[in-house]
Amino acid sequence: MAKHVLVTGGAGFIGSHVVDAYVERGWRVTVVDDLSTGDRRNVNPRASFIEADIRKVPLDEIRPELISHHAAQMDVRRSVDDPLFDANVNILGSLALLQKAAELGVKRFIFASTGGAIYGEPQFAPQTEQHPTNPVSPYGCAKLAVEHYLNYFRVVHGLPTVALRYANVYGPRQNSKGEAGVVAIFADRLRKSEKAIINGDGQQTRDFVYVADVVAANMKVTESADAGPLNVGTGVETSINALAKLIGVRTEHGPAKAGEQRRSVLASQFGRTKLADGLRETLAWFNRSR
Ligand SMILES: NC(=O)c1ccc[n+]([C@@H]2O[C@H](COP(=O)([O-])OP(=O)(O)OC[C@H]3O[C@@H](n4cnc5c(N)ncnc54)[C@H](O)[C@@H]3O)[C@@H](O)[C@H]2O)c1
Repeated sequence: MAKHVLVTGGAGFIGSHVVDAYVERGWRVTVVDDLSTGDRRNVNPRASFIEADIRKVPLDEIRPELISHHAAQMDVRRSVDDPLFDANVNILGSLALLQKAAELGVKRFIFASTGGAIYGEPQFAPQTEQHPTNPVSPYGCAKLAVEHYLNYFRVVHGLPTVALRYANVYGPRQNSKGEAGVVAIFADRLRKSEKAIINGDGQQTRDFVYVADVVAANMKVTESADAGPLNVGTGVETSINALAKLIGVRTEHGPAKAGEQRRSVLASQFGRTKLADGLRETLAWFNRSR
């Protein structure tokens, strides 16, 4: 019988690619998503879809062998404006899933964590998993808190958990409306022949990892016994100015955002795709689809 995976956030950008990979590998897939930022059209037609909040998932009925937890409130600025809401979804929602997963004897629990927001400003670069954790946003605090719960459930309840700390993920299906995905925003402006606004001097750097490499990391830990946390990045630092140039979008500089991190780059075994190649695929998708 096919193995059964529950992907929370499977109507979103990264989660929907993870769903596709499991479907391709012959898994039975159930998606739970409240469509708050996700899109029903992203959901693979061969997956079952349940429109629900992660805080109210009928896990007793779904009974998956594996949980890939990608649903989250993932807007850092919203977490600053409303830390209670962020903690409610990102901490309590995750905790509810973990508790139920342990109760039901789920065989693997994969958590989409974050590199950038958990480490804070680099004390050394690239940042390894041993880099001190200094989150400076409620979003980063929540992700780190969940990593501690993962550890607790693994050690005390024997739930095989693993955390993947993503760098800045980009690729097809990324939403250009929020403020998280700078590649998606620049690609959208380029398509509309509009100027993109760069916050501040544009010398701030990020580690841009292609979504296919993130999916490969998910598939690897599905089969492994890793507990993590594991970085999923490229080790390559790219400034926002350089990114705009690569994408070919016209830009203008706006005021710097208070508290914005200056640098972020993760040491990782997973980033394989060259930025120029990943961007080519991403821009082609934006031109085709919207
Ligand atoms: N995109 C990145 O660069 C990045 C970096 C680090 C970590 N992450 C993490 O990866 C995961 C996926 O992010 P993404 O970029 O695909 O974002 P996304 O917004 O496209 O996906 C998140 C999905 O979760 C759903 N969701 C939100 N709140 C929910 C709730 N309460 N109940 C059920 N569903 C809910 C949304 O509708 C959406 O489909 C998140 O956990 C995010 O924190 C993303």
